[in-house]
Amino acid sequence: VPVGILISGRGSNMQALVAGAGDAYRVVLVASDNPDAAGLAWAAEQGIPTLAHAGKRAEREAAFDAALRDAGVEVIALAGYMRILSPGFIARWRDRIVNIHPSLLPKYKGLDTHARALAAGDVEAGCSVHLVTEELDAGTVLGQARVPVLAGDTPETLAERVLAAEHSLYPAVLAEFVRR
Ligand code: GRF
Repeated sequence: VPVGILISGRGSNMQALVAGAGDAYRVVLVASDNPDAAGLAWAAEQGIPTLAHAGKRAEREAAFDAALRDAGVEVIALAGYMRILSPGFIARWRDRIVNIHPSLLPKYKGLDTHARALAAGDVEAGCSVHLVTEELDAGTVLGQARVPVLAGDTPETLAERVLAAEHSLYPAVLAEFVRR
């Protein structure tokens, strides 16, 4: 199944998705709202077609939509894409957009998930792959991975532990999802 990935920055989850590609899915396009995203340069070096569009949301989404369709994309994976997609875009790709979120949803939708988990005294944290709907971080959860919170954790050390779990969870869940 041809997959398109949207990123905004580092792109470590995108790299994990590319590494996990195989019989189930392949990555045919990486697009970013941020032309300077480190992940975009990495994808281009791998020979993956890339697209950057720094304009207004409507124009950016129209450009993404056209490029994704031209590339034959069937499923979109958000990987650190830091923009809210418009309801119109989500409707056009209904049930075909997935995202990875660094918390055990439904806990801690939105930003600063690790600081919030630590402030709450949680003994475990983790990440979730979910379907993207109009409501932020609220679509059906497709898979989760858990990690312990350790004594002395800071948001940074916890983020690092969760990120490692993200990198194994996301390709596995995407492969399962595209086979559905
Ligand atoms: C990840 O923690 C992801 O869960 C969140 O943003 C971060 C992106 O990191 N949505 P990267 O760009 O994949 O390295």
